[in-house]
Amino acid sequence: YNDHQERLIDLHESLTELYHYLLTTTKLGHDAMDYLQGRGLAKETIEDYQIGLAPNDGNIASQHLFNKGFVQEELLDSGVFTGANDDLRDRFRGRIIFPLRDRRGKVVAFSGRKLPGANDDQAKYLNSPETELFNKSQFLFNLDIAQNESRRAKELVLYEGFMDVISAANIGLKNGVASMGTSLTQDQAHIIGRYSKRLLLAYDGDKAGLEAMKRALDNMQTWSSRLDIDLLLFPNQLDPDEFIQTYGADAYREFVSKQRVSPIHFYRFYYRQHYSLNDDQGKLNYIQAMAKIISQTDTEVEQAIYIKELAEDTGLSQEVLTRQIKQVRQTEK
Ligand code: CTP
Ligand code: MN
Ligand code: MN
Ligand code: MN
Ligand code: MN
Repeated sequence: YNDHQERLIDLHESLTELYHYLLTTTKLGHDAMDYLQGRGLAKETIEDYQIGLAPNDGNIASQHLFNKGFVQEELLDSGVFTGANDDLRDRFRGRIIFPLRDRRGKVVAFSGRKLPGANDDQAKYLNSPETELFNKSQFLFNLDIAQNESRRAKELVLYEGFMDVISAANIGLKNGVASMGTSLTQDQAHIIGRYSKRLLLAYDGDKAGLEAMKRALDNMQTWSSRLDIDLLLFPNQLDPDEFIQTYGADAYREFVSKQRVSPIHFYRFYYRQHYSLNDDQGKLNYIQAMAKIISQTDTEVEQAIYIKELAEDTGLSQEVLTRQIKQVRQTEK
């Protein structure tokens, strides 16, 4: 970091302390604290992640920083404030604050979640804009912690939301990261590949999550092809955090170890939802999609297993399907 960036980091650390103080030790923070504990977060987790609360009064944070000797330009460069001159307002007013730490553990941005009572027209989450410290396309939440934990666990977990990362950490699974609500970028894929050989994709169990996980998987395989990937398909539209809240920590750990699926089985699940196997056109589309994927597997034994499953799904003979897959293989070459 250069000198200016060091100052901006100090500014973020100052705000982190202020927000955390307001959440944990003032009357102002009671409702937000109740909400977080109602979501099952232990006090220790709230400490670990230095979760905080931005007050409704948008001038408190700026005043706090001015008192500490920060100047207007620094406040503006931090991305946390909007407005100009003497009227710099905290953009996170009235939100629960999650400090975003870079891979070296420095707070470089914030995400603010609206409180349950807030207006419907407010976005659920608001993030700092891009700054010289915060590049969204390269950022992975919790990487400062997960880089060590994933070495121990021999696996990195990629979640869709950073609340899922925190909720898993809350039950002792600290090898998770998340992007900040954007789809996975090539830079993020490369960073993940640098820290781990094995990746577990654990996106939300709703339709949006399934689609996002499909894109992430497609991209991972082209961008970071040496990664060994498994996936989780959460039932009943649940996200990982909701699964933990609903079924408990033990059930979650069991689910993670026993219910993981391979990419090929993910695609099978995915395309079976997309194409109807009850009509010829649907079947044909399904076979074409799966043939393309099966043709990319390495060994003949694997192919034989998947062709058998494809035959079961479609009622076609294994011989016909084998020929189809050979054809795909040739046209791809
Ligand atoms: N997100 C966002 N803005 C929104 C909604 C979501 O930036 N209005 C991003 C956030 O980074 C969030 C991620 O997308 O972490 C996943 O969204 P979602 O599944 O809706 O969030 P959850 O983690 O489930 O949040 P919560 O449990 O608090 O509802
Ligand atoms: Mn504290
Ligand atoms: Mn979601
Ligand atoms: Mn979610
Ligand atoms: Mn959630």
